[in-house]
Amino acid sequence: MKARIYLTRVLPEHLIERLSETCDVTVNRGDLKLSEDKLIEAIRDMDGVICLLNDSITERVLRSNPNLKVVANFGVGYNNIDVKVASELGIMVTNTPGVLDETTAELALSLMMAVSRRIVEGDTYVRRGEWTTGWELNLFQGFDLHHKTLGIIGFGNIGQALAKMLSGFSMPILYHNRNRLSEATETLYNATYSSKDDLLSRSDIVSLHCPLTPETRHLITHRELQLMKSTAILINTARGEVVNEKDLYEALKAKTIWAAGLDVFEREPLLHPGLADLNNVTLLPHIGSASVETRSRMGTMVVDNLIAGISGNTPANLVNAADLIRR
Ligand code: GLV
Repeated sequence: MKARIYLTRVLPEHLIERLSETCDVTVNRGDLKLSEDKLIEAIRDMDGVICLLNDSITERVLRSNPNLKVVANFGVGYNNIDVKVASELGIMVTNTPGVLDETTAELALSLMMAVSRRIVEGDTYVRRGEWTTGWELNLFQGFDLHHKTLGIIGFGNIGQALAKMLSGFSMPILYHNRNRLSEATETLYNATYSSKDDLLSRSDIVSLHCPLTPETRHLITHRELQLMKSTAILINTARGEVVNEKDLYEALKAKTIWAAGLDVFEREPLLHPGLADLNNVTLLPHIGSASVETRSRMGTMVVDNLIAGISGNTPANLVNAADLIRR
């Protein structure tokens, strides 16, 4: 009998066809996020699930189906899955690392440029027909990026890809990470290890690239924003909950920091009330990895992971290899 798998959202048809060669595939053709109860109902008899990073794979979901063998996440961050419980139950959890590093770093860089040079404000001004004077001395003055100090919090693959991209910008780089990296890596990126507080007070741009964990939840709150320069820019392409959005909103409103560029939010797709009314923040709908090439690579990877796990092999991107209770 073919293994049964559930796709919580519609994937490209060629991937569904590939999965159908070996598995009996059921797709959530409604293509909208399911409630916990609906998800439990949908995966009742399934051996594997491919989910998106905004599907909450809770303890209740995992415990509801004793047959479940693999949960393959379409995304690198897997804070949406209760991995501890999955491991206890012998359920493999996989993600899609490596293929989206440069793409996400490019988005962080795009936000840095857009915010520092006020690109979105300028575009809106021109489109609305408000530009009536021609070249003006003081029109939309922003800040340079080059020669400014960049602080990167979370210096894994994406943070390092950003540092590499910016090597032509003559920007001193400070980084803060769970573990200090080797001297060779620091030299490669010309990056200096720094405490979080030191990084925040010395950087002109702070870009967040850490995963969401209990330790990084609300890493940036009122206290940290107060440490930053009044001319500083905060970029978040990691996870919304790394920042206390209410505190950020208040800091932007009070001009405690100069501006922010955000691709992620605490309660997506909702924004903190008033955030969208501020002109010193650029807002994007969580599109860090959303390039045609990268989404295609992620799709192939998620399917490879699922098929490997379902066939009794070890998926290439198993995140709970160390803790998995084998059954
Ligand atoms: C995107 O946010 C991802 O984690 O892949």
